[in-house]
Amino acid sequence: MFLANTHADFGAPLLIEDAEMLSLAAAGDVERHFSQRQDHRPTPLHALPALAKELGVAGVFVKDEGHRLGLGSFKALGGSYAVIRLVIEEAERHLGRGLGLDDFDRPEVRAVAAGMTFGCATDGNHGRSVAMGAELVGAKSVIFVHAGVSEKRIEAIARYGAEIVRVAGTYDDSVAEAARVCEARGWTVVSDTSWPGYEYIPGLVMQGYTALLCEALRQMDQPPTHVFVQAGVGGIAAATAGHLALRYGDDRPRFVVVDPARAACLYESAKAGHPIKVQHGEPTIMAMLECYEPSLVAWRILSRVADAFMTVDEEDAVSIMNRLARPVGGDPAIVAGESGGVGLAGLVAVARDPVLGEALGLTAQSRVFVINTEGATDPERYAALVGLTAETVADQTSERG
Ligand SMILES: Cc1ncc(COP(=O)(O)O)c(C=O)c1O
Repeated sequence: MFLANTHADFGAPLLIEDAEMLSLAAAGDVERHFSQRQDHRPTPLHALPALAKELGVAGVFVKDEGHRLGLGSFKALGGSYAVIRLVIEEAERHLGRGLGLDDFDRPEVRAVAAGMTFGCATDGNHGRSVAMGAELVGAKSVIFVHAGVSEKRIEAIARYGAEIVRVAGTYDDSVAEAARVCEARGWTVVSDTSWPGYEYIPGLVMQGYTALLCEALRQMDQPPTHVFVQAGVGGIAAATAGHLALRYGDDRPRFVVVDPARAACLYESAKAGHPIKVQHGEPTIMAMLECYEPSLVAWRILSRVADAFMTVDEEDAVSIMNRLARPVGGDPAIVAGESGGVGLAGLVAVARDPVLGEALGLTAQSRVFVINTEGATDPERYAALVGLTAETVADQTSERG
């Protein structure tokens, strides 16, 4: 399903607070912060010329976040950055003087962090990031996981010293429980979704994601003409679309939000003209995108700067994982988890439909940017869906150099 954005706010400038959050200056600060983190390296940007040719476009460029900070997803940027910013802000209040983001390792800042606890709900990746940020500054973290989060993903979070709380029900239930418990205990909720009255911290999380865009735009010879980004609550899509709109103004690329058909909260909100909660149905294999209600801030941004909203089916997600694992025509192999290749799956669906392609102005000159948002964050599930282990697929890329 595909829907052009016809919202009354479409084309309106971003609200000042959203524009500041995603500004070039803020993105520069975020990048500087990550460049000082010991384990940080820019992730690769892969060109897929053979796939581009097959789809009738000039270029397909995949930013491969499977390599991010040892966490295997772009989420490593958001939660960990937000935790560190919040610790710095708290330390400034305690110490009565200004501090920079790079002061996070000072003993007096760590002393303040030791008294702080950060909590969040997660499908897996965001919780790992919050736990990682907390561990890095010496704070505590408590991560709330719902019934659908796999044991492997829970273990990966616990490795960062987090306390795990299991919540019966869905992701939305875990968000509500995290908010309730954190409020009662005086802990700070670092959520990747926002709701009325709770916008600042999710804004920091989205600000953290801008680091990948700065890197990607430097890695490309020319800016993209089209961008397809998958959505859970819409945070990464909104950070991308908003930042590109601020950077390029009227020359910004066309932007498409891609939802799983089974959890299409952005698509359905676009259809309704306002943010709505969608009905739970069967779970989607795109586990990280299984969100039933959009983030308020993300919706506010996307309703202004997304050109279209679309859905992809379960088999599209699996088929793109396999295509990326077994590329043709000399394209590099890419390890994409169940939610990783979904933006690209959106491009494939549009490019194969002449009417949609024309509606979006996709031509033989188009340069399309997508984000592989995760590698094999659940290696067993990856191997079951692709028939190869993530290591085998990754080895193909390194053998090719
Ligand atoms: C791998 C991956 N891709 C995409 C998303 C969607 O991000 P958002 O919820 O910000 O839309 C997530 C969210 O957890 C994710 O983990």
